[in-house]
Amino acid sequence: MPGEHEAIENLLAESRTFPPPPAFAAEAVVSDPAIYDEATADLEGFWAKEATDFHWYREWDRVLNWEPPFAQWYLGATTNITYNCLDRHIEAGGGDKVAYHWVGEPGDERTITYAELHEDVCRAANVLERMGVGTGDRVAIYMPMIPEIVVAMLACARIGAPHTVVFGGFSAEALTDRVHDCEAKVIITADGGWRRGQVSDLKTAADQAFDNSPTVDLKLVVRRTGHEIQWNDDEDIWWHEAMEAAEATCEPVEVDSEHMLYLLYTSGTTGKPKGIKHTTGGYMVGTAVTHRWVFDIRPEDVYWCAADVGWVTGHSYIVYGPLLNHTTSVMYEGTPDYPDKDRWWDIIERHRVSILYCAPTAIRMFMKWGDAYPARHDMSSLRLLGSVGEPINPEAWMWYREHIGGDRCPIVDTWWQTETGTILLSPLPGITTTKPGSATFPLPGVAADVVDDAGNSVPLGHGGYLVLRKPWPAMLRGLYRDDERYRETYWTRFPGVYFAGDGAKRDEDGYFWLLGRVDDVMNVSGHRISTTEVESALVEHPAVAEAAVVGRNDPVTGQAVAAFVVLRAGVDGTQEMHGELRAHVAGLIGPFAKPKSIVFTPDLPKTRSGKIMRRLLRDISEDRQLGDITTLANADIMEAIAEQAAVSPED
Ligand code: WTA
Repeated sequence: MPGEHEAIENLLAESRTFPPPPAFAAEAVVSDPAIYDEATADLEGFWAKEATDFHWYREWDRVLNWEPPFAQWYLGATTNITYNCLDRHIEAGGGDKVAYHWVGEPGDERTITYAELHEDVCRAANVLERMGVGTGDRVAIYMPMIPEIVVAMLACARIGAPHTVVFGGFSAEALTDRVHDCEAKVIITADGGWRRGQVSDLKTAADQAFDNSPTVDLKLVVRRTGHEIQWNDDEDIWWHEAMEAAEATCEPVEVDSEHMLYLLYTSGTTGKPKGIKHTTGGYMVGTAVTHRWVFDIRPEDVYWCAADVGWVTGHSYIVYGPLLNHTTSVMYEGTPDYPDKDRWWDIIERHRVSILYCAPTAIRMFMKWGDAYPARHDMSSLRLLGSVGEPINPEAWMWYREHIGGDRCPIVDTWWQTETGTILLSPLPGITTTKPGSATFPLPGVAADVVDDAGNSVPLGHGGYLVLRKPWPAMLRGLYRDDERYRETYWTRFPGVYFAGDGAKRDEDGYFWLLGRVDDVMNVSGHRISTTEVESALVEHPAVAEAAVVGRNDPVTGQAVAAFVVLRAGVDGTQEMHGELRAHVAGLIGPFAKPKSIVFTPDLPKTRSGKIMRRLLRDISEDRQLGDITTLANADIMEAIAEQAAVSPED
């Protein structure tokens, strides 16, 4: 593991502890530690009890069927998740409660109640049906952070059509791949969204995906920015026109607990993204329960998860979890520095936000911008802070606590993955004494462990690989149409045990500390990108003969993409070529995957069997003493690469 020893040593030095403030603990949603033993003693009974709050058309016959690596939860039950997100609350008299305070980047705002959201979802579900979408058909969603993205997802779920949301930062190529792979029938998109004062063009990419995907019949287009777009009457439908013409009611389709709710593509260790499959019943119970426990959700909270809906954090903790809990959320369209670097703090002050959930990258960026921005605002409404997506370093944790949380808010550092569907490791804020930088303990019912190469639990105080020994309700049900890769990726390293791909350590008190990925997946600003994906993008450029990519430590984004490129004969490694290759990667994957540095080199370090030694490239990128080079076939190349790296520009 890169930097593992250093990381472990730093973490060992961390001795500060923060017990829950007594007033917080006294009122907390979960305040009795007996919940842990209860869940362990009878896992199925525990999850059966948690599921009773929901509306099921038909009750389950069995809570769990576990035939490793395939789990089924709430077997035989039927439900509709949107009924549980919307109708259930409205029938109980909660239709006027605000579901979202939405803030547009240019300053426009919308307030949407549960009743209004319900009506929009019904209309959109009717629109989709009119467009020929039926239960089981896939719908691709490629949209900015506007309320319609939530409506679109729920409209799909209303009729049992699995959605595939593709993050708006992905390129046309990446969108096409995903649309293609899931054979979507419709693409829902927009004329753009606002980001840092500019319009992000989504429609052109959606057009390209449409042209290259024979399964897609139509595009449904939300008007957000009003700027000029290509229009084709045969394939494009305006959202607002179709919504106006649609009926305002739509009976939810009763689906099986194991009916596919959505696919979400994520990077693995090969160039081809994996379609993570989530189903209905277990995901519903899991997201609602973890959201309530971890964020200590009460009726009067104003909760803000600042992720993008295009990632799993948005799926579980902007859309499904909060709506299932009848929570009022804030949702924000744009960037944190528009019009100024205090945009978030202004939103918190104006909407009296009580819970904030965001990524360490954002926190480190705010630290860099300086204490003065949050200090300008009254953030006394905050009572709880959350972190997700990457390891949070103790320094950022302490800054978050002091400058955002006013030294009074507990912090929940939540570890989970697209695959896990819900948070699995996290403090419970009314119970757990936290340590800066630690995700603390597995949630009730979660059988997490840290094991060595042979799969044995490591003693306290030691590091190894994070694994999960028992199924949980929101776990992935597989990879879309690829059971083989599912087994191979998660279940063969340690047979019968889920391998998360993360390094972790447990300290003497049993606390879990996450140490980053142990595979070829980078984590840049909380975005998962595989090194192979970026390498394949680079070698697709005609000037490139060979490329190797590593993730190197970065003080703000956690990791940064560092590329080492061998150009074809006759091509010069100029500054222009540097820019061209970055733009090329942005075009194939998305701007967030652009290499921060590109080192042009005559060769790459290889073993005698021809394997690229990325470890050495990482050493160079991070200015470290080179590790063992005795197995290199071309040891002399290292000096040349190091020299080149020293003079290469960075973006
Ligand atoms: C990393 C995001 C340390 C980890 C929800 C994991 C974290 C990957 C944390 C999943 C955390 C997520 N501490 N690392 N609190 N949360 N990670 O699928 O490497 O986008 O495997 O899901 O992010 O990223 P994904």
